[in-house]
Amino acid sequence: MTIIGKKIVKEFGEPPIRVLHSLDFEIKSGEFVSISGRSGSGKSTLLYIVSTLDNPSSGELIIDDKVIGDMSAKDLHAFRNNQVGFIFQFHYLLEELTALENVLLPARNLKRDVELKGRALDLLESFGIADKAQSLPKQMSGGEQQRVAIARALLMKPRYIFADEPTGNLDSHNALNVMKTLRQVNQEHGTTVLLVTHEPDYSKMADREILLRDGKIVNERMELTADDQPL
Ligand SMILES: Nc1ncnc2c1ncn2[C@@H]1O[C@H](COP(=O)(O)OP(=O)(O)OP(=O)(O)O)[C@@H](O)[C@H]1O
Ligand SMILES: [Mg+2]
Repeated sequence: MTIIGKKIVKEFGEPPIRVLHSLDFEIKSGEFVSISGRSGSGKSTLLYIVSTLDNPSSGELIIDDKVIGDMSAKDLHAFRNNQVGFIFQFHYLLEELTALENVLLPARNLKRDVELKGRALDLLESFGIADKAQSLPKQMSGGEQQRVAIARALLMKPRYIFADEPTGNLDSHNALNVMKTLRQVNQEHGTTVLLVTHEPDYSKMADREILLRDGKIVNERMELTADDQPL
């Protein structure tokens, strides 16, 4: 059970500008992999393609032996709903729902929200925001909202977690807390984690790093230059 990218190319615009240059990679089941590189190197673009939210311009993405481009819309929807937890660079909470209701959203669709309420509260507790369970997003800070979004992504114990700078909005204490929680989910449940981060310390917490430079994977750490340091 792996994620395999074969010659993944992504272009935007007309005339097309190439942002990802024929990337080949493999992410094994249970791995915790970081994607790093400076701003504009293609990290989010790569994460969106690997998480099936965007299509490559050419090349193939294969997850669990299925070619994603060949899957029906229905199968793709089921895969995203049942097996994937997304954490975006900017949180997307529903403004009219409380923190707890937002965390329980994936369970509500499956009519499992009553059963999973305890787990939802535990997740809020572990992120230090149990007291915000009944608060609306607009009553919380950006960092608190981000933690709610992370709790939501973890609720269903997905097989894959795709996270784009999940700690970007957080102070160092809470950022470390989030990283440790992701690591714990990875170790205890074998969840495959693919995480974009600017922070070298967090990148080091991963099993392996995919370093991007100008849309290409820099495989050898020896090739690191000052340009690859985060801004
Ligand atoms: N929808 C789009 N249309 C046109 N160009 C895009 C689009 N999305 C991304 N790009 C371009 O692709 C390149 C890579 O963008 P991407 O968002 O993947 O970078 P990143 O590594 O995630 O950067 P950051 O660290 O700032 O989030 C950038 O030059 C960006 O301007
Ligand atoms: Mg980005």
